[in-house]
Amino acid sequence: MSADWNPDRYERFRNERSQPFFDLLELTRPVPGGRVIDLGCGTGELTRALHERSRAAETLGIDSSPAMLARAAGFAGGGLRFELADIAAFAPAGPFDLVLSNAALQWLPDHERLLARIARWIAPGGQLAFQVPANADHPSHTVAHEVAREEPFATAMSGYVREWPVLPPERYAELLDGLGFERVHVRLQVYAHRLASTGDTVEWVRGTLLTDYERRLGPELYGAYLERYRERLLAELGDGAPYLYTFKRILAAGTRAGT
Ligand SMILES: C[S@@+](CC[C@H](N)C(=O)[O-])C[C@H]1O[C@@H](n2cnc3c(N)ncnc32)[C@H](O)[C@@H]1O
Repeated sequence: MSADWNPDRYERFRNERSQPFFDLLELTRPVPGGRVIDLGCGTGELTRALHERSRAAETLGIDSSPAMLARAAGFAGGGLRFELADIAAFAPAGPFDLVLSNAALQWLPDHERLLARIARWIAPGGQLAFQVPANADHPSHTVAHEVAREEPFATAMSGYVREWPVLPPERYAELLDGLGFERVHVRLQVYAHRLASTGDTVEWVRGTLLTDYERRLGPELYGAYLERYRERLLAELGDGAPYLYTFKRILAAGTRAGT
């Protein structure tokens, strides 16, 4: 299930968030005249970069957030289009030469089955490249779940705490290999984001992980949740400025056998 997204809040750390995308793009080869898809394309600006850099004839960006897609519409044209669709239910009309997903698959469960499904959308010789956050052990994430377990939030969400489906990096290498991918490249990368203060970490996480709790709690209770989250997180990180927010991410790529 997707949360509600706020494009302005998400784009507040635009440069920091786009670096992993360009690192991921470096793991792919252009597919001149080919078909490309971006799963969980968000605001579409990076999908435009993908479309141009891959030299595809057709690129499709899909996302389940109408707010993100409204922003993406401005980047459409010249073979690039966007569609409202849930990755979990998506069934493509034909195979793709490149399937890319940046910072979106962590919203879907059961990555073993998910990758097996996505692999079937790729033409022989086609490529898969994805990036997922691997920062579940950072206080910015652990505190979010600890606060969700506190009252009154726990009762309001019937005990819901977001599960983290991201697998260890080596498991992605095994999975891609088992699914018949060649040239498998998987790495864990630490991005070091210099934020103005520890308080900015709250703003960062509000734009992504916390959207899930925001949607479930409703505006009033979410306000209280956010205050409690800020209080506990700053107690843990200290009230420092600047603050180096270390963020681990997994980048994975491979080429489907068959050419
Ligand atoms: C962190 S943003 C990343 C957006 C973009 N890929 C980027 O790199 O800027 C995650 C995006 O995944 C989308 N998303 C989450 N779950 C999804 C799902 N099940 N199907 C389609 N999109 C989904 C969200 O709506 C959001 O736009």
